[in-house]
Amino acid sequence: MLATRLFPPAVEARLGSGFDAILNPDDQVHDGPTLVRLAEGCDGLMCAAGDPLNAATIEALPASVKIIATFSVGYEHVDVSAAARRGIVVTNTPDVLTDATADIALLCMLGAARRAQEAEALLRQRQWTGWAPTQFMGTHLGGKRLGIFGMGRIGQATADRARAFGMEIHYSNRSRLPAAQEKGATFHADAEAMLPLCHFLSINAPMTPQTRKWLDARRIGLLPDGAIVVNTARGGVVDDEALIAALKSGKLAAAGLDVFDGEPRIHEGYYGAPNTFLLPHLGSGTIETRNAMGFKALDNLEALLLRSERPPNAVGA
Ligand code: DGY
Repeated sequence: MLATRLFPPAVEARLGSGFDAILNPDDQVHDGPTLVRLAEGCDGLMCAAGDPLNAATIEALPASVKIIATFSVGYEHVDVSAAARRGIVVTNTPDVLTDATADIALLCMLGAARRAQEAEALLRQRQWTGWAPTQFMGTHLGGKRLGIFGMGRIGQATADRARAFGMEIHYSNRSRLPAAQEKGATFHADAEAMLPLCHFLSINAPMTPQTRKWLDARRIGLLPDGAIVVNTARGGVVDDEALIAALKSGKLAAAGLDVFDGEPRIHEGYYGAPNTFLLPHLGSGTIETRNAMGFKALDNLEALLLRSERPPNAVGA
């Protein structure tokens, strides 16, 4: 078994008790050829977001590899078609990171709306001269409309939290949810019809060829002036140039971003945009959640490799 990254101690302990594992104690980020070399003689890979398991890497993996279990719910970094052609099963870790990621969506909404990073930077630079009636005035969440693009598990958990802040929920999704899950939210079959209503827009859709750069200049233009955009899904769903231009022009009031196209090399424009609340992809970053993700990845590895059963979270082709 090849563990491509350093995983939480409890996860590595279970990994070591069930498998003869090659670990990565220095947490090096491996390129494709290195992953292929390290996988020699391995029957499975426990990998993570950002590992380059593209078609070229997967085609070059040793024949011994039967499963790629990613320690993530998103699996756009794994070419599932290439894996299927090789007979390699791909699994992910749904459900267990829903709450942690929805919490971060609210943190991004509040952070952007209340100008938290801009204000904190002033304080840390020892520039705060005292309370002032007009200082760092932000925007209230209560009474505002939140549009959610992608109403899966995380989108729904984000809606639940936003309701507690008094927000009115709208959503766009491939299909309408049953009433019990919709909980009074307004469904828009056409996402573009929802955009003009959104005081806040939360992106919760996975990265697919259809969602790549979905939030482009034209769609940003459909949002109300002064809207706030939040992204906790995948950076590639947003056209960075268009978002940065809208933040600079004042078309958008602010953005709260936990994910970035091409991360960790994020677009330079974000560094100079004060009306952003930026986090380094920590949506799932709680001890409880990261352990649960690891245990779920191990459930999948153990099912296939130790019991010859179909893994519970197989995805793709
Ligand atoms: C996920 O699980 O997809 C998170 O974004 C971490 O990669």
